[in-house]
Amino acid sequence: MNDSRIRLRGEPFNLDGEADWLVVGVVDGAIPPALASLDEKLNGKISRLRESGDFLAKPAELYVVHEPAGLKAKRLLLVGLGPVADTSRRRLHDAAAAALRSITIRKFGRVVLVVPELTTLKIDEAILAFGVGAVQGSHGPGVRKSEPSRHAPEEIVLALPGDVNAAEAVNRAAIEGDALTLARSLVNAPPCDLYPETFAVQIAEIARSAGLECEIWDERRLATERMGAILGIAQGSTRPARLAIVRYHGGGTKTLAYVGKGVTFDSGGLSLKTNDQMIDMKCDMAGAATVIAATEAIARLKLPINVLAVMPLVENMPSGFAVKLGDVLHSRNGRTIEILNTDAEGRVILADALAYAAEQKVDHIVDLATLTGAVMIALGTEIAGLMDNQNEWGTRVLEAIRAAGERAWPLPMDKDFEEALQSKVADFKNAPGVRYGGAITGGKFLEQFVNGIPWVHLDIAGPAWAEKDSASKDSGGTGAYVRSLIELACRYR
Ligand code: BES
Ligand code: MN
Ligand code: ZN
Repeated sequence: MNDSRIRLRGEPFNLDGEADWLVVGVVDGAIPPALASLDEKLNGKISRLRESGDFLAKPAELYVVHEPAGLKAKRLLLVGLGPVADTSRRRLHDAAAAALRSITIRKFGRVVLVVPELTTLKIDEAILAFGVGAVQGSHGPGVRKSEPSRHAPEEIVLALPGDVNAAEAVNRAAIEGDALTLARSLVNAPPCDLYPETFAVQIAEIARSAGLECEIWDERRLATERMGAILGIAQGSTRPARLAIVRYHGGGTKTLAYVGKGVTFDSGGLSLKTNDQMIDMKCDMAGAATVIAATEAIARLKLPINVLAVMPLVENMPSGFAVKLGDVLHSRNGRTIEILNTDAEGRVILADALAYAAEQKVDHIVDLATLTGAVMIALGTEIAGLMDNQNEWGTRVLEAIRAAGERAWPLPMDKDFEEALQSKVADFKNAPGVRYGGAITGGKFLEQFVNGIPWVHLDIAGPAWAEKDSASKDSGGTGAYVRSLIELACRYR
């Protein structure tokens, strides 16, 4: 992925402005007053396309006009926004992403997007969604191609309605766009390049450049800190474990902890996955990638809160040193874990990480993990499973996710699911005997390590990774929930 930062700027919309591409969002319905002057300048072209049915303005539908008569722009790209009543941050984000995906197959200098004025969204939200969507559409997963498959424009200009002062919204869009790109490029990096030691170095560099405090614990430190769960999972690999701890002090009295699963490759360990199951398992550090990307953005936005980010980093491999079925690991909070399936490794490393976060007396915790295949059986590939130990915090997190234009759905956390975790020899077993309710038993395991602090677990196994390209999304790492974690931090108090 070409992860150089894109220049994203705001400018008042000028009908006679120059551009290689002018991108215009059009709602499915009457042409709104804000678009009327553009339509007039184009001699009613947009109205006629709508009437003839050549362009219906369905969500993310595209229509190209070369050398549009009446405009200085060289090319006009209409992108559908769907019915006005349904417009949302997600709609706008996806429309801008689809538009930029289609034009970044070649290199262009100046791409201008006209930010739509809608009754359903504040102008700041429209700027954010359109801007971040445009950045997302400008980057692809061709990480190691000698000929890049996608070319980010030199600059993306958000054309704003006349008198709007949107410096803050444009700034947030630029920072959030960069965060999304960072998370995606970390997930797309091949596991030969990105493994616990190199991932930790990258996290430390990101932290330094954003003015964040950062500690990296190596395997010796992990041993003196009694993190037997992380060390146990890592011991089958030639790549030693790391724990990355990043702190942002923005002020205020509250501290929010973000904890992310960082398995840089999940072979399953001795409970080896099949080729088909293993093929995309470089994505198993998406939780950690999301957490560091969002934390950097929160620091760059100078939000008045405190954040503790904890990222356990391991590679899960089979070998003569690997953790065995029946082994018992000692976790940070004193609880013992019997390993009955080495492929249920995420919850084990998160046990130490969550116990550490809980000890730091944070006020709220959110963890993100590509934890189970079962969550995809329950909710499909686009929706995260949300589990909590306190409904009020769960609701707040869900509201932030929805406002950010992303998706999650609550799963029940009734006490009886804990029975599946009872071990005959240790405090818990890492894998339940039954597959039913597998996402929930994963969540229930994690709950044992948060010491009652309000906590939410997001099982992002589906949305973190896209198997195929779609209109608005490239295959590979998606950067899912970066936007949600930033939104949650913006609302946090
Ligand atoms: N990383 C996987 C979960 C996963 C599967 C993520 C597919 C993304 C796509 C996780 O470590 C795992 O292997 N979970 C097991 C748990 C089981 C052994 C209790 C699973 O889901 O099969
Ligand atoms: Mn696994
Ligand atoms: Zn895993």
